[in-house]
Amino acid sequence: MAPPSLVHAGSPVLRKPAAPVRPEQLKTEVFGRMVEGMVACMRAAPGVGLAAPQLDVPLRVFICEDTEARMAHLTEAERLDRGRVPFPLKVFINPVLEFPRSGRATFLEGCLSVPGYTALVDRWHEVAITALDLSGETVRWRVSGWPARILQHEVDHLDGVLYVDRMVSRSFCQVEEAQARWAHRSVEEMKAGLGIPDEQPTGF
Ligand code: CO
Repeated sequence: MAPPSLVHAGSPVLRKPAAPVRPEQLKTEVFGRMVEGMVACMRAAPGVGLAAPQLDVPLRVFICEDTEARMAHLTEAERLDRGRVPFPLKVFINPVLEFPRSGRATFLEGCLSVPGYTALVDRWHEVAITALDLSGETVRWRVSGWPARILQHEVDHLDGVLYVDRMVSRSFCQVEEAQARWAHRSVEEMKAGLGIPDEQPTGF
């Protein structure tokens, strides 16, 4: 079966706060199938995270997963810099994020709902998430680096926020330009090349 299709920027569902999943909803077959559809869609894209509103479902649930294959374009040093490590599929329902104020990190980020573009986004280096899993159990994950970036991006989707609201606007790039010009260059080189001051204020 073909995975469900993504909705893109411009769709109102991406701009509204999503509703909490009710306990009685969580263990239904419909909900299970919806999550399966999210997984199929994220893997087909491929992406490292997907929130329910991206499939036109206004509920507070997202999934994420990172694999060696999805980070194969990065050198060892770049993976280390980003704190990018593989982790198995996770489902987070009604998540709450905490920010341990561990410092900030700026890297290029993209979104399956804004295809073809990428931009620098400043995020917390470390976060802690508390949520329900598919069986309704409370789970908590404190994590830094790229997984922390993914969690912040996906929870933003549940609040009607896209990365373009938080991006360093002058760094907004077509993916082809970013690959041709800025892959394997430092964030500092990219900022210098695009005329971005070091302390460029972000959208939030
Ligand atoms: Co996104």
